[in-house]
Amino acid sequence: MKARRISSRIVEIRPLGDGLARVDLEGPDLARGAACGCFAMVEVPGGGYVLPRPYSLFLTVNEHRVALLVKNMGRGSAALLASQPGDELAVLSPLGNEFPDPVGSCWAIAGGVGAAPFGYLAAREGVEIIFGAQDAGQSGFAGALEDVGASVELATLDGSAGFKGTVVDCLLARLENDQPDMIFSCGPTGMMQAVAAVAREHGIACHVSLEARMGCGWGVCRGCVHRDASGGWRCICEDGPVYAAADIFAAVETVKGAGS
Ligand SMILES: Cc1cc2nc3c(=O)[nH]c(=O)nc-3n(C[C@H](O)[C@H](O)[C@H](O)COP(=O)(O)OP(=O)(O)OC[C@H]3O[C@@H](n4cnc5c(N)ncnc54)[C@H](O)[C@@H]3O)c2cc1C
Ligand code: FES
Repeated sequence: MKARRISSRIVEIRPLGDGLARVDLEGPDLARGAACGCFAMVEVPGGGYVLPRPYSLFLTVNEHRVALLVKNMGRGSAALLASQPGDELAVLSPLGNEFPDPVGSCWAIAGGVGAAPFGYLAAREGVEIIFGAQDAGQSGFAGALEDVGASVELATLDGSAGFKGTVVDCLLARLENDQPDMIFSCGPTGMMQAVAAVAREHGIACHVSLEARMGCGWGVCRGCVHRDASGGWRCICEDGPVYAAADIFAAVETVKGAGS
């Protein structure tokens, strides 16, 4: 699906606590081609910012409306979260590839903003999401996923809500009694690397969605390149962000307690 520059407007910003929010955008055919893993380059509202910012598409509300999950990370995301319904902004979408269609049971392991792609799988039978956050205050994206029908197990580092420990600890604990057919993961690179190592040890097919700083989102600036398992380079916006984990992460030992 070829990405298009779409004149859009903010419809709603739903706060989820601690600098997190669901942001709904509307524009002509904005949801066309949207799928789990795709992202959009979103103009920072208010002017004064040259580069748009990449955000995973969280949900298709209808053919003209999509939702994002946004965390306040810096000036661009703060400006987006400070905008008002009706504010206009340009969106380049959809970009990137997508997670494969889940076959059988699938556990989606997400950390922080890595929750966003899995809105598209929320209502799928056989899909369960394990979401990791620092503490209960940072768990707002888990609530956003549950609101759209997802089955979510929450893991917090301090044990203030859900399982106490990292998502990797939670994954290992669950694997003592059960095993999915597939694992998907999105979040901090260290977390995904640890998830990929666990999946490899258990012989479970695993796909990951990489994150990088992005300048353009469509293969021009080369700002988003990432090493792969063979030592080569991948241009994440062009041939990712979703990859088979074995193509990106060389075999490593499971690190208990890695990632969030
Ligand atoms: C494919 C893709 C999908 C993404 N999906 C989401 C999403 O669904 N929700 C969401 O909230 N964020 C998502 N992000 C991250 C988001 O793009 C950044 O948080 C955002 O660009 C920060 O812009 P800023 O101007 O607020 O921060 P800046 O002022 O540019 O930076 C603030 C801090 O954030 C760090 N940072 C900025 N961008 C990134 C990045 N891409 N990766 C790691 N650290 C970064 C900087 O190093 C700095 O420490 C995604 C990124 C990619 C590449
Ligand atoms: S973000 Fe420019 S090449 Fe990937």
